[in-house]
Amino acid sequence: MWTRGKAFLGTRHAILGGAMTWVSEPRLVSAISGAGGFGVLACGSMTPPLLEKSIAETADLTPFPFGVNLITMHPDMDALVDVCLASSRVQHVFLAGGLPSREIIRRVTSGGRQAVCFAPTAGVARRLVRDGAGALVIEGSEAGGHIGPVSTSILAQEILPVIRDVPVFVAGGIGRGEAMAQYLMMGASGCQLGTRFVCATESRAHPRFKAAFIRAHARDAVASVQLDPRFPVIPVRAISNRASEEFLEHQRQILEAWSQEKMTAPEAQLAIEHYWAGALRRAVVDGDTEKGSLMAGQSVGMVTAEEPVQTIMDSLVRQALDHIARVDAA
Ligand SMILES: Cc1cc2nc3c(=O)[nH]c(=O)nc-3n(C[C@H](O)[C@H](O)[C@H](O)COP(=O)(O)O)c2cc1C
Repeated sequence: MWTRGKAFLGTRHAILGGAMTWVSEPRLVSAISGAGGFGVLACGSMTPPLLEKSIAETADLTPFPFGVNLITMHPDMDALVDVCLASSRVQHVFLAGGLPSREIIRRVTSGGRQAVCFAPTAGVARRLVRDGAGALVIEGSEAGGHIGPVSTSILAQEILPVIRDVPVFVAGGIGRGEAMAQYLMMGASGCQLGTRFVCATESRAHPRFKAAFIRAHARDAVASVQLDPRFPVIPVRAISNRASEEFLEHQRQILEAWSQEKMTAPEAQLAIEHYWAGALRRAVVDGDTEKGSLMAGQSVGMVTAEEPVQTIMDSLVRQALDHIARVDAA
């Protein structure tokens, strides 16, 4: 069922380790690729020289394929694409964080690389394929990090039956192999997991960040709340902590200042967005689990221990195979 996904990625398993800013750095990415999956480096806000260094480090750590995830609103986007094109080891560029323009997709594909894009609806999926995307990821709102409004199960039903031209990988809320197998049976070419890999032994996440994951249940991973539709908040799913509780109070204070004309609307919007600046780094790197952002998906309840990537990968594949065997036998 995942032959097409494996061929597209060049891997033993069509399981992607979704890029996670600050977490998906060379050691974890190379470990995922080494275990038969497909690791994806998170560029986040890295500069082009830093990305070049990260790609070189990952390439030194693994002979297996890996990808690079770029956030399309990065101010140096063109230069970042050029860095990817300069390395023969990067054959797949993931264009995340907003819809990529046709030009940026072309820039990747005319360099002979695959552009992998995120599709929030069937209509957009068709447009992305027309624009040259070599594969799509559909990521539902159960996922960790920045999320859309629609759940994985709905996106899978809306998009998998209608997109046949390119492989589609399903992400968001997948913690076990049985779920992977179900999406494969529905026509997916593979699955992308993030949360499940955060507590891998090879992950550089701070021990306190990992401990928060191991403690948390599904219901603890909640989407950030927007207080006023005039000041939009991009929803982020994270384990609730002091920072997420105080975010509401922060919005309340900004709205009050704006309503008393102590701030203009653009200043208020900026102040709301600024609240989370650097918060993921604070949690992942510094281990500040109270004031940082504990981005995590609802599958966090299935993360119960720190384990080597190979163990995680083997159990996902075993669960998927057992599930398919049970379905076949029934
Ligand atoms: C801590 C964290 C950081 C993330 N950072 C990014 C990112 O930089 N770019 C991106 O496209 N997705 C990012 N994601 C989403 C993952 O790549 C992946 O698609 C998602 O985690 C899949 O859902 P799951 O968490 O339910 O497994 C992040 C997720 C987490 C948990």
